[in-house]
Amino acid sequence: MHFLKYKISPVLIKNKLNQKIFRIYRWNPYLNKKPWFAFYPINLKNAGPMVLDILIDIKNKQDSSLSFRRSCREGICGSCSMNIQGVNKLACLQEVPKEPKFITIYPLPHMYVIKDLIPDLTNFYTQYKSIKPWLINTSPINLQSKKDRSELDGLYECILCACCSASCPSYWWNHDKYLGPAILLQAYRWIIDSRDTNHTERLKFLNHKMRLFRCHTIMNCSKTCPKSLNPGKAIALIKRKIS
Ligand code: SF4
Ligand code: SF4
Ligand code: FES
Repeated sequence: MHFLKYKISPVLIKNKLNQKIFRIYRWNPYLNKKPWFAFYPINLKNAGPMVLDILIDIKNKQDSSLSFRRSCREGICGSCSMNIQGVNKLACLQEVPKEPKFITIYPLPHMYVIKDLIPDLTNFYTQYKSIKPWLINTSPINLQSKKDRSELDGLYECILCACCSASCPSYWWNHDKYLGPAILLQAYRWIIDSRDTNHTERLKFLNHKMRLFRCHTIMNCSKTCPKSLNPGKAIALIKRKIS
């Protein structure tokens, strides 16, 4: 991303009660133009409470060319992840902050951008596929006790929004080799599943200096997760199983 020069009309800055200015990163691959900020004034009285409500409002009423992902509006699909006021969040779960007057929104950091607030998640999903995120079971009996099922709590809730991976410095610099916190949490979800018979191969695949051991336990990932999960802990538990 580039730091941008921009101009803003004094009319937008005029201090109107209930008005906020949304400053949104824009980039269009079809325009021969560097990224820029677009400014959208919003009267909060006439808008929904969440950042996603505001983005939908802008798209409907001010600028239909603004692009972003969204689907469920309930924190379930993981598609509306973006960087809001410097923190990776789900726009549908993030209330419009009371302060300051300007709210700045970027796409998830350190990812290639397809357009505006839409990051390219091709690498992320290729890495997800590499951990075989499905049950591998060669036994005809497939039952699980309540206790074993409870081991999946705190893991199965992951919605693959990528907020954690996009906040991880190790992933920023080595995203092509290091699997990152989201994918490693998902990997642990299958390693710990009592019905899965592929644990040894799964651990063998992860026992690799780049895939797993680029994690330096800084824990940005767990601080960021909008579902309050703890990918940093899942990574530590994988390491413990390997050592
Ligand atoms: S704990 Fe590991 S995965 Fe999480 S942010 Fe730090 S380096 Fe990245
Ligand atoms: S662990 Fe949390 S932040 Fe990371 S992908 Fe899953 S839900 Fe998103
Ligand atoms: S729109 Fe589905 S998580 Fe935000």
